[in-house]
Amino acid sequence: MRGILLAGGTGSRLWPITRAVSKQLMPVFDKPMVYYPLSTLVMAGVSEVLVITTPEDRPQFQRLLGDGHPWGLRLEYAVQPEPRGIAQAFLIAEDFLAGAPAALILGDNIFHGVGLGRRLRDRGTVTGGRIFAYPVADPTAYGVVEFDPAGRVLSIEEKPAVPRSRYAVPGLYFYDGAVVDIARGLRPSARGELEISDVNAAYLERGQLHATLLDRGTAWLDTGTFDSLVQAAEFVRVIEERQSLKIGCVEEAAWRAGLIDEGQLRRLAEPLCKSGYGDYLLRLLDWEAQRHEQFADRLVPVAGR
Ligand code: DAU
Repeated sequence: MRGILLAGGTGSRLWPITRAVSKQLMPVFDKPMVYYPLSTLVMAGVSEVLVITTPEDRPQFQRLLGDGHPWGLRLEYAVQPEPRGIAQAFLIAEDFLAGAPAALILGDNIFHGVGLGRRLRDRGTVTGGRIFAYPVADPTAYGVVEFDPAGRVLSIEEKPAVPRSRYAVPGLYFYDGAVVDIARGLRPSARGELEISDVNAAYLERGQLHATLLDRGTAWLDTGTFDSLVQAAEFVRVIEERQSLKIGCVEEAAWRAGLIDEGQLRRLAEPLCKSGYGDYLLRLLDWEAQRHEQFADRLVPVAGR
């Protein structure tokens, strides 16, 4: 499965702060926003990712993320000249995907939850499409999914004025190789965009749309407004300080996925020690060593956890 990280758009809901810097490069507490969705993809078992940006922002993303090699990833870049809709990502990514299944994540979506990576890996392989459903207080700002009592999807609507359920569709989607053709068949919506909800509706029509409820143990935050950006940063700060574990740490996700080994993690940590970020990575190795001492009779490889 190949990943697409969509990080374009004008960010106009956050102007003026995003006039000169991409929204997805804004800090969310101690790391750039794009780290969070990238680490979610890595936790879902994806190591080849196409990062789609605006033409102007591409050099900054490349400066930050590079080719992904030090993280055991393969990162490629493409531009979206105009924000013509989330589903346009599949047309831009056609060559990169080369018929493979795709995991698309929006660059401003933050997920956190115990066991989330395992659940995403279990659910990631699909015939058709897989979306997630998350209960929110006001679904009108999102794609909204309606279920029947057996959990089958009944309808998908983008930003309905009168939602048929309280379940929003978060910005993480898994599709089989048909998605590029489906995207090619879409017509722009009234607001001139190729809508991701129309991709989901097309899979629903084929009887191939699966939805998984993200339970209350999972946090899904989006960062599209001043308030939600501050709330996301505060959420990350509180959890990280309380648990001394980081959210959205790409290096940790790559190490836990077995994409890099202890030596590589140590090398990544060294230049980051001044900010404390690198100390955290080194602490992970200490904790791992202690765990091994404590449970020496029940050792499991890091990638197996
Ligand atoms: O956050 C989840 C929601 O994301 C879904 O529930 C909706 O179904 C989906 O349409 C989307 O709604 P938003 O109103 O949040 O979409 P927005 O236009 O803000 O774009 C979301 C992100 O995708 C944002 O970081 C910018 C990026 N983007 C968006 C468009 C339309 C692009 O990179 N290119 C685009 O053309």
